[in-house]
Amino acid sequence: MRVLILGGDGYLGWPTAMDFAARGHDVCVVDNYLRRNIARETRSESLLPNPNLHDRTEIFESVSGKKIHVEIGDCADMRFMTRVFQTFQPDTVVHYAEQPSAPYSMIGFDEARKTLNNNLNATFNVVWAVIQHAPDCHIIKLGTMGEYGTPNIDIEEGWLEIEHKGRKDKFLYPRQAGSLYHTTKVLDTDLLWFYVRTYGIRVTDLMQGPVYGLSTTEADQDARLVPNFHYDDIFGTVVNRFMVQAVAGIPLTVYGKGGQTRGYLNLKDTLQCVDLAMDNPVDRGELRILNQFTELFSVNELAERVKRVGDRLGLNVQIEHIANPRKEAEEHYYNAKHHGLLELGLEPHYMADDVLVEMLKKIRPFKDRIDPVKVMPRVRWK
Ligand SMILES: NC(=O)c1ccc[n+]([C@@H]2O[C@H](COP(=O)([O-])OP(=O)(O)OC[C@H]3O[C@@H](n4cnc5c(N)ncnc54)[C@H](O)[C@@H]3O)[C@@H](O)[C@H]2O)c1
Repeated sequence: MRVLILGGDGYLGWPTAMDFAARGHDVCVVDNYLRRNIARETRSESLLPNPNLHDRTEIFESVSGKKIHVEIGDCADMRFMTRVFQTFQPDTVVHYAEQPSAPYSMIGFDEARKTLNNNLNATFNVVWAVIQHAPDCHIIKLGTMGEYGTPNIDIEEGWLEIEHKGRKDKFLYPRQAGSLYHTTKVLDTDLLWFYVRTYGIRVTDLMQGPVYGLSTTEADQDARLVPNFHYDDIFGTVVNRFMVQAVAGIPLTVYGKGGQTRGYLNLKDTLQCVDLAMDNPVDRGELRILNQFTELFSVNELAERVKRVGDRLGLNVQIEHIANPRKEAEEHYYNAKHHGLLELGLEPHYMADDVLVEMLKKIRPFKDRIDPVKVMPRVRWK
């Protein structure tokens, strides 16, 4: 397969690129370093060093013998996308290329506009590049479980059948996101659904939960191949923040009551899910939505886990509840379905204590680089 990975320098894009190349696919990665630039602007750089994309691919080639093509450019620029699609002619495009930070999108007007323009324009260009230059190409798009919000009913896998005044129909599941970033993902899904039904493109939209982990088969071969690891309030997910706080001797900061419940998954399972989506493509004119997570945890449960594991390593971890910088329900019903990927063959790697121990051990040598200011909330939902 010829696989185009948009956002190939990112936390998920880089390990996906190595995984696909190792499996013998012809891989091209595209990135414009948006994340690295925002990280510099907001003092949110990755804790572990990450060589640039050209250097990463050279290191990977020296270790594996596999080549990954690199294109540095902006997916929101249609001339660039046209050239890439015309020359590479992908069978599958994996679209990760978005601004993925909820707090960044909530800083103010400029950051909100940048997030909206970037994410919608990138998705719009992917759709049109496929329509014009690779109409059979399967788009695998990363959505987020955050599109659904926290409704007081079960969350279905993408669609909801509704009976109204004696008649029935199926619609996209109602979505009510909690940040501008998550709202751009809702809009992406609407855009994709429109083009699926009117132009017959093929799309899998993966509603993914927060991902944790630094280990993949390829990343473990050389320390310089490690995925990005952000621990700050802008790009760091709650698991990363807790890990770093445990190592640095800072109390784990639980936002509000800590009952916020989400579906999480191991990085290794993201790779499996994207592999499974690619190996089982949808037909023309089909939008398949799959909820991509393996376990539900509340923030309190995560904090307890990190404390238990950290204490085992002698870290004496404390937990502190602080004012919630976000507007979100802190205690709520949450029951989300996630059958589709299991039915396709997903074999989950659960959050066992050993997985967290391994992460803590990878972080520990960088303890001196941890900036305590960055793990505290710097952005508040107005
Ligand atoms: N990491 C998670 O826990 C998680 C959870 C749910 C959904 N997602 C989604 O998965 C995708 C990847 O997430 P990630 O954590 O790897 O984020 P990331 O920021 O590490 O990776 C995204 C990459 O895309 C690049 N990019 C962004 N806009 C671009 C553009 N216009 N042109 C070219 N490159 C561009 C960035 O520079 C970055 O390298 C995102 O769409 C995100 O919304 C991630």
